[in-house]
Amino acid sequence: MSALPAARGLPPGSPQRILVLGSGAREHALAWKLAAEPGVERVFVAPGNPLMTDVAELRPEVAVGDGPGVLALARAEGIELVVVGPEGPLVDGTVDGLEAAGVRAFGPTAAAARIEGSKAFCRRVAAEAGVPMAAGEHFEKAGAAVAYAARLGGRCVVKADGLAAGKGVTVCDDLAEAEAAIRDALEGGAFGAAGRRIVVEERLEGAEASVIALCDGQHALALPAARDHKRIGEGDTGPNTGGMGAYSPLPDLPDEAAAALLERFQRPLLRVLARHGAPFRGALYGGLMLTADGPRLLEANARFGDPETQALLPRLDAPLAPLLAACAGGHLLATARELGIDGPALPVRAEASVAVVLAAAGYPGTPRTGDVMQGIEQARAAGGLVFGAGMAAAPGGGHVTAGGRVLTVVAMGPDLPRAADAAHAAASEVRFEGRQSRADIGRRLAVPA
Ligand code: AMP
Ligand code: GLY
Repeated sequence: MSALPAARGLPPGSPQRILVLGSGAREHALAWKLAAEPGVERVFVAPGNPLMTDVAELRPEVAVGDGPGVLALARAEGIELVVVGPEGPLVDGTVDGLEAAGVRAFGPTAAAARIEGSKAFCRRVAAEAGVPMAAGEHFEKAGAAVAYAARLGGRCVVKADGLAAGKGVTVCDDLAEAEAAIRDALEGGAFGAAGRRIVVEERLEGAEASVIALCDGQHALALPAARDHKRIGEGDTGPNTGGMGAYSPLPDLPDEAAAALLERFQRPLLRVLARHGAPFRGALYGGLMLTADGPRLLEANARFGDPETQALLPRLDAPLAPLLAACAGGHLLATARELGIDGPALPVRAEASVAVVLAAAGYPGTPRTGDVMQGIEQARAAGGLVFGAGMAAAPGGGHVTAGGRVLTVVAMGPDLPRAADAAHAAASEVRFEGRQSRADIGRRLAVPA
């Protein structure tokens, strides 16, 4: 697909001053993309991380959940669009607060973000929308949940209803495992309030795909499909993480096929949410399982995926700032037309993209912090985009680790094998004690059942 003609100009009302909320590699990728676009004058990030100063102005004193602080910053800097990265503040109503104060924000209101904030709510909306999911039920009592898991033959999936930082899901091989997961959540308080209600689901088999759409409450435009690698270990082994890497495009779900899936997933969800007075404006993420019986929705997220976004944005061949503002303003299709975009898919480069996450010692358990990092400039010189996450400035200069997922290194190539080679080569330049990464990111092209 061709690049957009610059001469066409930007749609009126395109934001020039943008604030991105969050501090991870996803938010760094968003700031990187926005900062490079014509018409965007200044990009701020709060609280951000020190690596983001390459593309944005940091406001580390403003926390993502600090509503009054965010509003004060938006007013002081004349922010025309706030882009909310993580799910926590969305579910907590950050966008509601900003909108009430007259500040335009990209992301759903609390009522619409509930599609991620409660898995039981997501299942209800999907059922009403006719969106296919695994069979499942929600429970607050362990006895009934165990009985249902037994009806499913023990091979099932147990999920905390609420937000659990990607760790609330147990994929079980047998009833003993399911019963332990059920009791841990409902009786042991393993996930706190998020696990006082659980969902027990039929366990589906297939390859997973993430399909993310920009939505304005009514209409949706698709990013290409990406695939996350959720387990810590190579060959998809070991415990789940927030995501150890991602790639796009998917050989088994080409970009056009991904866009066609909006008709089965995002659009019906949008119709039902709007009908219930909770129109969804933001990034609606469908976590899909491509089963032998067709795609099924595993989860809906109310935001961009991490690390999918780091792999996807370098492929995007359209200006994000006016599109995000159009989602917030409810006029996505008109803006897309002004940008020369027609059809359900956003224009993308044909090249493949691979994103490799580097994690700290101890992750996904409690990560060790304070390990001195080296080689970020070398990774960039080797052609990698380096997006920072759990890292901090070292007192004497340079950086130290400061969280579980430390950074993401992304590279593109004419095809997936070459993009993977480039991404791993660049990532290998970054060194710190205890560093964990998966050498099979982008090289394990579908996850067999
Ligand atoms: P979720 O947070 O609901 O996406 O679940 C996290 C991960 O658990 C998914 O990416 C899948 O790998 C797995 N998972 C969730 N639901 C199911 C299911 N019904 N069948 C099989 N695996 C699942
Ligand atoms: N990559 C999974 C997520 O963002 O939820």
